[in-house]
Amino acid sequence: GLVVSSLLKETGLATYDPGYTNTASTASAITYIDGEQGILRYRGYPIDELAEGSTFLEVAYLLIYGELPDAKTLTEFTARVNRHTLVPEQFRGFLAAFPRGGHPMSVLASSINALATFYPESLDPHDDEAVDLATVLILAKIRTITSYVHRSMRDEPLLYPDYARGYVEDFLRMSFGIPYQQWDAEPVVAAAMDKLLILHADHEQNCSTSTVRMVGSSNANVYASVAAGINALSGPSHGGANEAVLLMLERIRSGGDSVENFMRKVKNKEDGVRLMGFGHRVYKSYDPRAAIVKKHADAVLDSLGAKDELLDIARGLEEIALSDDYFVERKLYPNVDFYTGLIYKAIGFSPAMFTPLFALGRMPGWIAQWREMMKDPATKIGRPRQIYTGATERPYVPIDQR
Ligand code: ACO
Repeated sequence: GLVVSSLLKETGLATYDPGYTNTASTASAITYIDGEQGILRYRGYPIDELAEGSTFLEVAYLLIYGELPDAKTLTEFTARVNRHTLVPEQFRGFLAAFPRGGHPMSVLASSINALATFYPESLDPHDDEAVDLATVLILAKIRTITSYVHRSMRDEPLLYPDYARGYVEDFLRMSFGIPYQQWDAEPVVAAAMDKLLILHADHEQNCSTSTVRMVGSSNANVYASVAAGINALSGPSHGGANEAVLLMLERIRSGGDSVENFMRKVKNKEDGVRLMGFGHRVYKSYDPRAAIVKKHADAVLDSLGAKDELLDIARGLEEIALSDDYFVERKLYPNVDFYTGLIYKAIGFSPAMFTPLFALGRMPGWIAQWREMMKDPATKIGRPRQIYTGATERPYVPIDQR
């Protein structure tokens, strides 16, 4: 940053780096990625150990406050989050006002943005207590709101949160109601869902996180910043890929396309077709999150008795891709989104809900990154430069002479 800004002042030169492939926008102590070796650590802890040993709220605490909580701290943090899981009653009307076929990502982003209007005491980005309150409010309410988005899509009544239940257990109960509680597989499903949320919880300066920081850099409140992150996540090149993977697999299964024909189109880049769930800006080897998800996909599908031939199609695509020159040369491997949709589908979520589930998982990371930025003395308002390519000065033409 220092080098570039002084270069600009002294020489008038700016770096031109579309997509910021080689530009560090910030220093950060939260998440470490080694894309060549496929390493991901939150606050120094390897992702597989966190996914194995921790719960989602514990990881949220780690990302946001920098240390793993001891048992007492985690109990207090959990209790504080649980106390705030109710959403204002007006939300029922708010959710009912969206058209039924509206995409849940739009509804989720609008709802999180709207929270700012209910909690004015939590808006000041430079008041530590207000920021702590907003942190807890968002983590608590996104669990309720995401389940409400799911239920209102299906015209089902919204259920109140249950303070005594765990974060993921209650999220699943609010999403699926009574039948879910009677479901034998609940512990397996809840544990798998908890792991998926941990795997999604942060990923340094990806598109949505950079968006959160960019919006926050103007001192916008945290609700406005993370709502912008949800919108950035919605695109199919980013979080929207998990939904796109499932639609791709379904198209192949329904006979709309054979695996071979589909792969031919991908490699010929016909109509911009890509193998969704493959490739990553940073990982040039197997995405460590995808490896964990793949390991669990079988177990979850088995325990739900939901053998899914889409899993076989996905495995087939992966097998072809891993030994095909096109993918090998470009270092394209499955990313976290390739197998997650199959688990979400087995649990009972429709494809349109997959990206909201990603947002639920990513929320602690967005909050942690926003907080880190607000405390960083090096933070400046985000304001990139451009290379102007338009017309040089031209004489103005009055409307009657054009
Ligand atoms: N299928 C086919 N070809 C691909 C794919 C893919 N999924 N991804 C990249 N390529 C090719 C490109 O066509 C390009 O080929 P070329 O060198 O012949 O032009 C080369 O690989 C490099 O691709 P870029 O688009 O330059 O890579 P970039 O880093 O900009 O993009 C991205 C990364 C967006 C993730 C890309 O791989 C992609 O579109 N993947 C599919 C969508 C997806 O799964 N997104 C989720 C990402 S992970 C996440 O957000 C959680």
